[in-house]
Amino acid sequence: MLKICVCVSGGGTNLQAIMDAIDNGTIRNAEIVRVISNNKSAFALERAKNHQIDAVAVSPKDFETREQFNDALLQAVKEKNPDLIVLAGFLVVIPEKMIAEYRGKIINIHPSLIPSFCGTGYYGLKVHEAALTRGVKVTGATVHYVDEGTDTGPIILQKAVEVLPGDTPKVLQQRVMEQAEWKILPQAIDMIANQ
Ligand code: GAR
Repeated sequence: MLKICVCVSGGGTNLQAIMDAIDNGTIRNAEIVRVISNNKSAFALERAKNHQIDAVAVSPKDFETREQFNDALLQAVKEKNPDLIVLAGFLVVIPEKMIAEYRGKIINIHPSLIPSFCGTGYYGLKVHEAALTRGVKVTGATVHYVDEGTDTGPIILQKAVEVLPGDTPKVLQQRVMEQAEWKILPQAIDMIANQ
């Protein structure tokens, strides 16, 4: 049984997709052992608790230095000894120590077809704003391994999504989530748990 730690910052719809996929058998041989949020008021924490999953907040606001926060974050992960760390809308730069300690065991979902609209500054709605400004006709989502760079690690899965006339960033974000993110993130976890 693959033990997963899911890191979140906001609404947690990708977390919900993972929990649902475990419940309905789309993800086999995996369990979530902890959900960690850097944001105490993230709705994702409620989603975890509603599912009887251990959920903790580790906020940078509670620490004097970034290093202390990074250590606390790593500690919160290590306590559960996970086999896989899933960044599901986690808007924190992963400490190098964690990347080194969990090399090849951290995956991230990004809401574009990498290498488009990725890297520093591209997160959440900003990604979709940039895609609409550039006028691309196809966008999508990517699941990739995490290395020291921002969105530079090996790609595991990608799925394309059409951009439609009249799309706003929010409308496009919702379509990318429904048609791509909520499918390929569970699919990638199932692949890793059963390889
Ligand atoms: C998702 O669209 C995810 O791809 C994105 O944040 C959103 C979180 O939504 N992640 C990034 O932009 C990472 N660079 P959620 O909290 O509802 O899952």
